[in-house]
Amino acid sequence: MKALVLSGGTGSRLRPITHTSAKQLVPVANKPVLFYGIEAIRDAGIKEIGIIVGGTKEEIEAAVGDGSQWGVKVTYIEQDAPRGLAHTVVIAREFLEDEPFVMYLGDNLVKSGITKLVRAFETERPNASILLSRVKDPQRFGVAELKDGRVVNLVEKPEVPRSDLALVGVYMFDRNIHQAVRAIKPSGRGELEITDAIQYLVDKGYEVKPHIVEGWWKDTGKVEDMLEANRIMLEDIQPSVAGKVDAASSIDGRVVVEEGTEIINSVLRGPIVVGRGCKIVDSYVGPFTAIYHGVEIRGSEVEHSIILENSKILEIGSRIENSLIGRNVRVHRVDRRPKSHQLVLGDNSEVGIN
Ligand code: TTP
Repeated sequence: MKALVLSGGTGSRLRPITHTSAKQLVPVANKPVLFYGIEAIRDAGIKEIGIIVGGTKEEIEAAVGDGSQWGVKVTYIEQDAPRGLAHTVVIAREFLEDEPFVMYLGDNLVKSGITKLVRAFETERPNASILLSRVKDPQRFGVAELKDGRVVNLVEKPEVPRSDLALVGVYMFDRNIHQAVRAIKPSGRGELEITDAIQYLVDKGYEVKPHIVEGWWKDTGKVEDMLEANRIMLEDIQPSVAGKVDAASSIDGRVVVEEGTEIINSVLRGPIVVGRGCKIVDSYVGPFTAIYHGVEIRGSEVEHSIILENSKILEIGSRIENSLIGRNVRVHRVDRRPKSHQLVLGDNSEVGIN
C-alpha cells in the first residue's frame, strides 16, 4: 500500500497567506497541517509516500525532506498547474505502479486518523473506498448519494445536493482508478475531477465503498476552518512550560510555552501554545490561540487566533480575536492626531475594525 498526498493547488481561499507560502504548511496548534496527514499515513503502516507539489515545491520539500523524520520514504511529484485531483493520479502513475493507495488531501485533518479505513480496505478489497461526513452545507463539497450501502452517484459542488454526505479528503483506490482518470474529460472549471473518476468506476460496475467518518474532520481551505482546526487540536495538547514565566504572570489551563520564550507580567489562559523564542509582556493571551516561534506581544490581548513566525503585536490596547496573522507582520499603535488607522496591507488582505 502506498500514499499520494496532494500538496499543490492554488490556495486562493486562504489569500493573502498563500501569496507567500503553502497553505499545507500553515501551522495548526503550531504544527503544519500537512504533518498531521503524514503522521496519520505513517500510523496506518504506510511507508512510501508520493507528495504532489506545485508552485510551493521548494517550501514543501524544505519542510518535509526525505520523510526520514517520520520513518517514511517521500517521493516528490511535480504538477505543472492545479489541473485537478484526478490529474494528480495521472502524473503519479509511475510512482503508484499497480499498488493500491490512499489519496490524502494535504490540507485536510481527520482527527481519528485513517488506520481503521486502511485496514478495512485491505480486508474487504473493494475497488475504491471514500470517506464521507454529514455536513450542513453540502453544496460546498463533493457530494455522494448512497443506495444499499454502495455509492451510486457523485457530484462536485452540486447546486441542488441530493444528500448531505460530503466527501472528506481521503480516498482509497486499487489500480482500476488509472483507467478512470484517463477516461474522464476536464469539468466546466477545467479540472480533472476525482468525483468524475469515481463515478466512472461506479458506472463500470466496480465496487466503491462508503465510510462515514465518526470523528471530527476539516478541510482547512479557509480562515474560519483553520481557526476551528486550531481550536480542536489545541484541546488535546499536553501542557508543558519550558520557557521563563515571571512571578507577576499567571498561567491557567492547558498551556505550552516552549524554550527560550519569556512571559512577563501577563495572563495566559489555555488551551494555548506559544512557540520558541517569543516574548509576551503586559498582555493577555486567551483560549485557542497558537503563537508560532519568534513572536512578540506587548501591551495587547489576543484570543482564538493563529499568529505566525516573527510577528509583533505592540501596545494595541484592545483585543485581537478570530484572526490569522501571517509571518513578520507588525501591528502597533500610533499615537497622533487626527486619530486614524495606518495600514500597509498586501493583496487580498482582510481587516475588521470595530
Ligand atoms: P483544493 O482546496 O480543492 O484547491 P486549492 O488548493 O487550489 O484551493 P482553493 O480552492 O482555495 O484555490 O485542493 C485540495 C488539496 O489538493 C490541496 O491540498 C491542494 C491539492 N491540490 C493539488 O495538489 N493539485 C490540484 O490540481 C488541486 C486542484 C489541488
